[in-house]
Amino acid sequence: MEVLEIEGGKRLSGTIRVSGAKNSCVALIPASILSDEGAVTLLNVPEIKDTDSLNEILDFIGADVERSTESMVIDSTNVEDKEIPEEFAKKLRASYYFMGAMLGKFKHAELYFPGGCAIGERPINLHLKGFEALGGVITNEGKKYIVDAKELKGAEIYLDIASVGATINIMLAAVKAKGITTIENAAREPEIVDVAMLLNSMGAKIEGAGTNKITIEGVKKLHGCSHEIIPDRVEAGTYIIIGAAAGNYLKIDNVIPQHLEALTSTLEEMNVELDIGDDYIIVNKPDKYYPAVVKTLPYPGFATDLQQPLSVLMTQAEGDSKITETIWENRFLHVPHLCNMGANIEVNGMKSIIHGPTPLHGTTVETTDLRAGAALVAAGIIADGTTIVTNINHILRGYENIVEKLTDVGVSIKKIDIEE
Ligand code: EPU
Repeated sequence: MEVLEIEGGKRLSGTIRVSGAKNSCVALIPASILSDEGAVTLLNVPEIKDTDSLNEILDFIGADVERSTESMVIDSTNVEDKEIPEEFAKKLRASYYFMGAMLGKFKHAELYFPGGCAIGERPINLHLKGFEALGGVITNEGKKYIVDAKELKGAEIYLDIASVGATINIMLAAVKAKGITTIENAAREPEIVDVAMLLNSMGAKIEGAGTNKITIEGVKKLHGCSHEIIPDRVEAGTYIIIGAAAGNYLKIDNVIPQHLEALTSTLEEMNVELDIGDDYIIVNKPDKYYPAVVKTLPYPGFATDLQQPLSVLMTQAEGDSKITETIWENRFLHVPHLCNMGANIEVNGMKSIIHGPTPLHGTTVETTDLRAGAALVAAGIIADGTTIVTNINHILRGYENIVEKLTDVGVSIKKIDIEE
């Protein structure tokens, strides 16, 4: 079994360069198959397991993919309308973007319920509601969904929850629908803007991405283009938190600071010193941390994906910090492991109170989901002694070269094989 072994207690300096955004990339790859003519080139593609899993699906449906470091050229000339098997769909959440993309391309999609981190029930009712509004008829056979449309027609769609996935999936299905589609109460995450930018470069007519009303005027055909993926704000945020915990002039490079404002203002409240440049943030560990109160919200609120790593820093604050999670029912799975390392955290439903400061001690901890894994790595970095983080596949799904990036700035971290 592969695990991460971390010797804690080191101060970190140097530069970590942030990769392309996972949560953009996993939507941009399926979006690329909507091209009717010419290949789509994606730049700044992170080398993570989720990208590999989507590549397997591309390969299965007949796309011709050239992958080199940080780029992907996707030629969809020979893509076929095929059922995407469960073994592919269940590897990651974002496999469901093939539903919108196949529906937009073929007016037909067959796919199994997606996988991904077990951080909540994660229904897809809003995606399906959007497809139905556009003219799709949905048949559900166990875990399999068949969406079929004689014709896709623009519609006015209101999302009860500003869902990232549903907003993107509806855009994918609507770009070639006849007439105009509006998505009200659309999610506003930067990844949605990135997907709209790619689609517009392919010839789509999408306006309003990044606001809560998106308008899509259907076009007949889309074409190839080249598109550079935005930097990963969650990866950047994770390393900024690690810098706040152990940094000595640690520079996080290739960031869009505006995407991280909810985090940086919380860190400043906690007494963390940040030097925020145009495309970088330099961070230092302060002498002491003040506690903070955080409520996760859709963008531009505090990102749910960063509350788990932030909770590690909160264990070092002088007083009680509070986190209220409002997006996922199950996002405190890292807490028992942090408590095994010495943290004092109470969880009550979707709220937690972190009583600080408590020193953390190295032990063996298990990754339950991607950002829980990032939190445990952060904890290992500030703990005394050796921390073994198991079940690291979750981490490798979303953090490109995490071992190399952390080693380069002074973390003692190794991927090793141990007997189960
Ligand atoms: N929801 C529904 N019905 C739906 C869709 C969503 O009830 O049809 C609910 C969800 O259960 C959740 C809320 O709406 O309570 C928001 O879910 P959303 O659809 O926005 O999340 P997602 O698209 O499944 C993406 C990211 C997550 C991130 C969330 C929120 C990807 C692949 N995943 O998930 O990222 O936490 O948005 O920002 O983009 C991660 O990277 O670790 C991660 C989990």
